[in-house]
Amino acid sequence: MKQEYNFGYEVYDDINDLAKEDAELLAEARKITQKAYAPYSNFMVGAAALLNNGEKVYGTNQENASYPVGICAERVLLASASMLQTDEPIRTIAVSYNNLSRKGDSNHPISPCGMCRQSLAEYEERTHQHMRVILSGMEGKVMVIESAGQLLPFSFGSTDLA
Ligand code: THU
Repeated sequence: MKQEYNFGYEVYDDINDLAKEDAELLAEARKITQKAYAPYSNFMVGAAALLNNGEKVYGTNQENASYPVGICAERVLLASASMLQTDEPIRTIAVSYNNLSRKGDSNHPISPCGMCRQSLAEYEERTHQHMRVILSGMEGKVMVIESAGQLLPFSFGSTDLA
């Protein structure tokens, strides 16, 4: 028996084509890239999330001289959300980046690393709600995915431990 997995996503030419709420969130993710601590990669990542209760939380990547100790912006954001707004579902997360080593080259979306996908999937599972994901650089094309979990098919989750 053959099975298929696929998912749809939206692509926009730029931020001006987004609905107001999404455009605001992406603009905040772009701005907060300035707060990244990325002296080793010079790859400044910013994330902004809108929660169900209207609050917003943010994250930026935090690197370390011992490279594997560094944390991605998405997981910094999730840790903040978990602590400050415990169990509140995230409606939408926007992720942007500014590649300081290649100025002007931050014009296409990047998507979360595998470790962050695992964290995002668990946050959705825990809060029983899909999280929309907006991906873009400092300018240009924007991708919108309806649920973070779609980025990690066959993910390992809490029910596997039961
Ligand atoms: N990084 C993030 O923070 N989020 C992503 O989605 C991709 C990568 C960070 C990790 C590291 O500090 C730098 O970007 C370069 O990999």
